[in-house]
Amino acid sequence: MSRIRIALVPGDGIGPEVINATRGVLDAACRRFGIDLSYDELLAGGIAIDATGSPLPEATLATARQCQAVLLGAVGGPRWDTLPGHLRPERALLGLRSGLGLYANLRPAVLHGPLASACPLHPAIAARGIDMVIVRELTGGLYFGERGRKNGPGGEEAFDTETYSVLEVERIARVGFELARGRKRRLVSVDKANVLESSRLWRETVLRVAADYPDVALEHLYVDNAAMQLIRRPDDFDVMVTSNLFGDILSDEAAMITGSIGMLPSASLGAPGTPGMYEPIHGSAPDIAGQDKANPLATILSAAMMLRLSLGRPDAAAAVEEAVRTVLESGVRTLDIHDRSPELPPAVGTREMGRLVARAVLDGDPDPASRTTSRTSSARKGKGRTAPKSGRTGRSRS
Ligand code: IPM
Ligand code: MG
Repeated sequence: MSRIRIALVPGDGIGPEVINATRGVLDAACRRFGIDLSYDELLAGGIAIDATGSPLPEATLATARQCQAVLLGAVGGPRWDTLPGHLRPERALLGLRSGLGLYANLRPAVLHGPLASACPLHPAIAARGIDMVIVRELTGGLYFGERGRKNGPGGEEAFDTETYSVLEVERIARVGFELARGRKRRLVSVDKANVLESSRLWRETVLRVAADYPDVALEHLYVDNAAMQLIRRPDDFDVMVTSNLFGDILSDEAAMITGSIGMLPSASLGAPGTPGMYEPIHGSAPDIAGQDKANPLATILSAAMMLRLSLGRPDAAAAVEEAVRTVLESGVRTLDIHDRSPELPPAVGTREMGRLVARAVLDGDPDPASRTTSRTSSARKGKGRTAPKSGRTGRSRS
């Protein structure tokens, strides 16, 4: 069995806590499935600024390039908020994304059954379920366009520019179409083609690519309308493909309607053979950092995506996702997803949530003999399921 190198980037705020909890779950999955991982712990974000003066030290990017995947917690915090743009912790994220060529960002938004009451939408809408993936273009657009400041007649001016090339739109559109093909065969492309020239090129290009995917139903929405429809009919969405900025905004909205931003994982992928990067879509939450309050499930589910998409282990990925479902079904909640109902036990902390998911991964093993630790059989719940009930990406709800 060959060792797989994983770059671990805990970052700032709650990052180290959610990464620690996730490591326990990965250890359990590795034990159960005989996977051999080694971790390179790397500096990025505010912690890297303090240690080296740079948010993304060269060594971090160089080492990440040699690993099979990167698992990142979160970066940023008020301590570094007054630094100039190119020195802010967020530069680390943008530098990793562009440095590794990770142009396709997959953000699945799933309303987990037991969390239906955490959905802020009307119960009748929540009852219809949500299972969609946002495909966000990640290395172009407004985030990476020309920017600057200059003096104008109205005083100092600042500008950022949105530029997209046909190549950039084409490759992200293909990711969207391919993903939709493995799911419900519905793709919504989001733009602002009624106003922006870059969006008009986006729409023309998506339309052209659509000719190669006659089996996928394509719909175009303007971004303002998309924001509205996400609230009005979230169950109608299957795969949504959009630009860097629109994807950033709409994925926070999609996260909220699934109950909590603490639940949503993401995968950032580039050309075949390059390492993928996996991270929760939430930020560093400095207000609760170090208090064992953060929800580690978004990072744990990101690790599941890593197992599936970068390590070729759909079996281990499904086991982690199944373990998360089992734990949620048993009523275990962190503060952010606790609906305060008296039927639920009190909220647990980050560490305990991680420990329970790790245990559920091991307990899900249908062959207890393969477990290497001595565990009592009473700890098992007799759930020998290893097949996923539903996938997180690339497959439809079953
Ligand atoms: C995200 C975040 C980042 C982004 C920030 C932290 C730079 O909001 O991953 O959604 O805007 O891409
Ligand atoms: Mg964001």
